[in-house]
Amino acid sequence: MERQAQHTPTWPFLPATRNVHIVRAEGAYLTTKQGQRILDAAGGAIVANVGHGRASVAHAVADTTLTESYVVPTWLTPSREALVERLRRDWLPPDLDHVHLTSGGSEGVESAMKIAIQHHAARGEPRRRRIIGRTVSYHGTTLATTAVGGHEARKKGLAHVLGDYPKAPTPYPLRCPLGPFDPDAGAYYVGALRRLIEAEGPENIAAFLAEPITGSSGGAIVPPDDYWPAVRSLCDEFGILLLMDEVMTGFGRTGRNFGYEHWPVVPDVLVSGKGLAGGYAPLCGVFARASIAAPIAAAGMNVMFHTFGAHPAACAAANEVLRILTDEALVVRAASLGEVLSKRLHDALSNHPHVAEIRGRGLLQAIEIVRDRASLERFPTEANVTNRVVGAALKRGVFFYSGGTGVVRDIVCLGPPFIVDSSDIDVMVEVLAEAVTEVTAGTLL
Ligand SMILES: Cc1ncc(COP(=O)(O)O)c(C=O)c1O
Repeated sequence: MERQAQHTPTWPFLPATRNVHIVRAEGAYLTTKQGQRILDAAGGAIVANVGHGRASVAHAVADTTLTESYVVPTWLTPSREALVERLRRDWLPPDLDHVHLTSGGSEGVESAMKIAIQHHAARGEPRRRRIIGRTVSYHGTTLATTAVGGHEARKKGLAHVLGDYPKAPTPYPLRCPLGPFDPDAGAYYVGALRRLIEAEGPENIAAFLAEPITGSSGGAIVPPDDYWPAVRSLCDEFGILLLMDEVMTGFGRTGRNFGYEHWPVVPDVLVSGKGLAGGYAPLCGVFARASIAAPIAAAGMNVMFHTFGAHPAACAAANEVLRILTDEALVVRAASLGEVLSKRLHDALSNHPHVAEIRGRGLLQAIEIVRDRASLERFPTEANVTNRVVGAALKRGVFFYSGGTGVVRDIVCLGPPFIVDSSDIDVMVEVLAEAVTEVTAGTLL
């Protein structure tokens, strides 16, 4: 007893994150230990696509735990077969038929990077080992995914050990160097990628890794319409694999099954997690063309599994979450509610003196707050605008997701469950507007 008292474990790891205690999650709402109800306008970490507390998902997990508690990831089980069959039937494009399942998004993205490198090595092109990332992006917490990403705040204390990955500029229409929303923005960003590829030497490049719509790092930034088709052609021209990180944007979040479907392109490798199991279990999928996998197999290389990859209970949760998404037509709902949300955000905030842009697709939306709307000057980092807005909204009972990279900042993201209704959207918008006004009015200009 004495020993226990002296060594109380401290969770979470850092004091700054130790401030909210949730005892229940149901539908689109969370309840704190003190009894406050919070509208989860972030779906957790933009994960809870079908909402919280679904009994059918809990039952699927329980049943599978009883019958297939743990089986090595390389063997088939009923829960794995059922999930892969559903993915093939309802979700994946026909050519992305090779499936590798990890627990989280970081593992998934890193697996995709390794698959790209192994693919080229297996085909006798080991020089193709560079992976191009983008300046504003997030791909995960491992050393490689941190390094390939463009999230400066998450590199603090690590930068000196991170590998060197070339970065192409992330399309950012609001802040395009040609001018805000310049009609040539798409060509500008594609041109920059082409010059980077040529400078690095295309023969050294294995893959280009990007989110189709930049998630929380940039705050739901949608690229110009001509960007993705031109990037797809560029990758084909130089034999570079296109890896799309849809950890956040996949499984309906942007109002389509996957974010890339907003444009006439298909990636070579697709990574999608979060909404796959809707937060009920840790699971992420890496989906690749047969032509990517075949040389790796022929060369006798291994795409190593993670011990908890394709965990049966997680596959059962995902299978049921995907069934719900289909049977309740929730992806279509995400598209139409996304339009409602966007319109109401525009009505409430587009004339706000400190809101530069309201953007996004489907139920992935964000606002960018600035000190000066005309010059797009940002508030100083020390003003800590995002966290203060999120805090001010939380006091009023709504949870939004902090966005930005430190360099890109003052971004607040919305990613609610697809089951929210119009009155929930009204509450979100009203509270966000109040929180932005409270914080910007109180910030020294
Ligand atoms: C686009 C993107 N990629 C990768 C990740 C990393 O996923 P995880 O936190 O599950 O490792 C995230 C997480 O937020 C993400 O948004």
